[in-house]
Amino acid sequence: MNRIVLLIAIVCISLPAAVGPVYAGSAQQTVLITGSNRGIGFEFVKQYSDKGFRVIATTRTPAKADDLNAYAKSHSNVIVERLDLVDLEGIDALAAKYSGQPIDVLISNAALLRGPDKGQTFGTMDYEWFDQWFHTNARGPLKVAEAFWPNLVASDNGIVASLTTGQGRHGIPILGFAYYKASKAAIDNFFLDVARKGKRDGVRVVTMSPGRVNTGGGQSTPGMVPIKDSISGMISVFEAFTLEQNGKSFRHDGTEPTP
Ligand SMILES: NC(=O)c1ccc[n+]([C@@H]2O[C@H](COP(=O)([O-])OP(=O)(O)OC[C@H]3O[C@@H](n4cnc5c(N)ncnc54)[C@H](OP(=O)(O)O)[C@@H]3O)[C@@H](O)[C@H]2O)c1
Repeated sequence: MNRIVLLIAIVCISLPAAVGPVYAGSAQQTVLITGSNRGIGFEFVKQYSDKGFRVIATTRTPAKADDLNAYAKSHSNVIVERLDLVDLEGIDALAAKYSGQPIDVLISNAALLRGPDKGQTFGTMDYEWFDQWFHTNARGPLKVAEAFWPNLVASDNGIVASLTTGQGRHGIPILGFAYYKASKAAIDNFFLDVARKGKRDGVRVVTMSPGRVNTGGGQSTPGMVPIKDSISGMISVFEAFTLEQNGKSFRHDGTEPTP
């Protein structure tokens, strides 16, 4: 008789895992990634999915995210959501949808990444572009961190990471990338405050450099890091990062950039 009761208990305990994804309050961890439809973001989706995470894969245009949609179709732990960094209300709406659910890893990956451009070159600056670059690369990731902060606090060991250019404010020491590197320097600085708040709230906060990764589809050049190595390296850094290190910046290989 006791054996039958035990058997029923075992079946009941294992049932939720057998019928679908496991959510808040369970052992399954959740990661939210911005800009998941291509490049570094899409590789994060694949590697966290392989690790068994529930992956909230956000993209600004889900209808055009063919590769991501196909991937999510064959991986039940991947959910595709719309998130446009310039749409503040949309960010709040997505955070409201996930209200009360812990997010263990939040990766602020999406960004405008381009250059050299005439419009970003001192002497021929295009001032119409200013808001677009800063709203996307600086205001957007800051807003995402703030909107999903309660989800990070609800995690046992939450971490928010912002991808940056690697050499802090000196990144890319040539003309033609002014808006890119200045908007990244801005979010790096904003994240110092996020890190201070994180120390109080128990949320780990890091800025992360992926190395030079060929996501543009062209020929790789010497010194570029294979995308799989870059992403697995960054995931290892997230796992080892401690609350005491809040505000620090790391490269994908675990080294710290020179100031
Ligand atoms: N690749 C490198 O060598 C390198 C080096 C240093 C740092 N990083 C950083 O790593 C991150 C990813 O780089 P990547 O090479 O994978 O870039 P990427 O291939 O150009 O992809 C950028 C991603 O950001 C998305 N995005 C752009 N504007 C957006 C917006 N307003 N709202 C939401 N998503 C938006 C893009 O979506 P769409 O497809 O809709 O445009 C795309 O998914 C960036 O933060 C970049 O600065 C990269």
